[in-house]
Amino acid sequence: MKLQGKTAIVTGGASGFGAGIAAKFVAEGARVLIADINGAAAKSMANEIGGGTVSHAANMALGDDVKKLTEAAIDAFGHIDILVNNAGVTHLPAAMEDITEEDFDRVLAVNTKSVFWSAKYIIPHMKSRQTGAVLNVASTAGVSPRPRLSWYNSSKGWMITATKSMAVELAPNGVRVNALNPVAGETPLLKSFMGEDTPEMRAKFLSTIPIGRFSTPQDMGAAAAFLCSDEAGMITGICMEVDGGRCI
Ligand SMILES: NC(=O)c1ccc[n+]([C@@H]2O[C@H](COP(=O)([O-])OP(=O)(O)OC[C@H]3O[C@@H](n4cnc5c(N)ncnc54)[C@H](O)[C@@H]3O)[C@@H](O)[C@H]2O)c1
Repeated sequence: MKLQGKTAIVTGGASGFGAGIAAKFVAEGARVLIADINGAAAKSMANEIGGGTVSHAANMALGDDVKKLTEAAIDAFGHIDILVNNAGVTHLPAAMEDITEEDFDRVLAVNTKSVFWSAKYIIPHMKSRQTGAVLNVASTAGVSPRPRLSWYNSSKGWMITATKSMAVELAPNGVRVNALNPVAGETPLLKSFMGEDTPEMRAKFLSTIPIGRFSTPQDMGAAAAFLCSDEAGMITGICMEVDGGRCI
């Protein structure tokens, strides 16, 4: 029970990695609020996970939504120990000049501005308590980018630098900030990275992962539970590959 007595917000927790992280946190003793733009899916995932998990509909790209989410979490739990900035989207693979401005703005708003809003509304609460753990879900895309996903890759590179910058600034306030860099994973988002879900495309992606399989929500849950627990009390500013050796 690594997270006994802790409270956590997991954004994008209605699906994929976020759902795996939320389920593992509950199994480790945390009380979890799933925040997702898809309120119905968040509610149903909260029910599926059980253990007192609650849900809140929020578009993490919008400041007002993140402000209301912060209030809802404090109402539900009294305080927030852990924030997992996991909500993220991609554009479909294409030459960089063919990606539309609309797609660029959407990817940047969800993958980067959400972190800005969470810093505005959730970090002051953690600073006032002189304790907290933030985990940003970045990607191997920010370390070893694949072609045709340029603006998605760049958004994750931004998140990696944001993680280090937040970590160094918040360390004196007792708030640790780390990131996970997952490799391609078995979630609904995988098809969008591959462009098409065919055996050939899967084989192409798998050939770049030495361990020979896609990552899973359980892999992310295990890594997230450690980094957000007190066992990782001396770890801040790391962006940890959970990638089966892809970035070696
Ligand atoms: N799946 C992969 O291959 C992979 C690899 C590396 C990194 N990642 C990152 O992991 C994170 C989770 O991805 P996933 O694969 O689980 O995707 P997913 O599509 O399964 O889940 C993403 C969740 O985020 C929610 N969401 C989307 N936009 C939102 C917004 N504006 N506000 C709140 N919630 C929003 C969705 O409704 C969904 O429930 C993302 O940040 C993604 O970039 C994924």
